[in-house]
Amino acid sequence: MSHSSQHQLERGHALYPGTFDVLTLGHLDIVRRASTIFRRLTVAVAQNPGKAAPLFTVAERVEMLREAVADLANVDVASFEGLTVQFARRIGANVIVRGLRAVSDFEFELQMAMMNESLNPEICTVFMAPAPAYSFLSSSLVKEIARFGGDVAEYVPPHVAEKLINRLKENGVR
Ligand code: COA
Repeated sequence: MSHSSQHQLERGHALYPGTFDVLTLGHLDIVRRASTIFRRLTVAVAQNPGKAAPLFTVAERVEMLREAVADLANVDVASFEGLTVQFARRIGANVIVRGLRAVSDFEFELQMAMMNESLNPEICTVFMAPAPAYSFLSSSLVKEIARFGGDVAEYVPPHVAEKLINRLKENGVR
């Protein structure tokens, strides 16, 4: 990739990319921590063809994220198609933030970080640990618990819990 057309990267502008289907308190914990460290944080929903049959559309995920970060003045929410590094470059972010919950995340995250580094060495990946209480959370577990009638109030914000339950009812699985 040529860097000659490089947009000016802003120092201290971080991008937190993810699928966010669904947004959990673990993701929000990373958002809050990152928002205290970086001057500006863009949380972005990736249109990830690798993840089959999402429960929520990209627009719905963006909306849920916007509501969840409304109190954080330096955080904005977006969505993107294509490569994370290309989107980072487009918005001028010089950092990619990713959460590391456990050693099991490490191999895949390191592989992505190395690949992103090779695609654009000017954008650096920073890993953040969530609070231990969220280290076992994942979006698919939350969806599974909700599907079988379990209480997800401890794992997702209230507006997400409500939308999750409604969507499962619409789909006839709850
Ligand atoms: N709290 C709770 N759960 C967390 C979490 C946290 N702090 N951090 C990660 N997770 C969970 C998610 O819930 C999700 O669970 P699931 O697998 O059960 O659905 C899983 O970890 C990973 O989700 P997420 O953080 O949303 O990221 P992702 O792995 O789906 O996203 C992208 C990966 C979007 C960053 C990556 O695919 C990407 O960059 N895509 C764009 C294309 C590209 O550039 N590809 C080349 C990459 S080298």
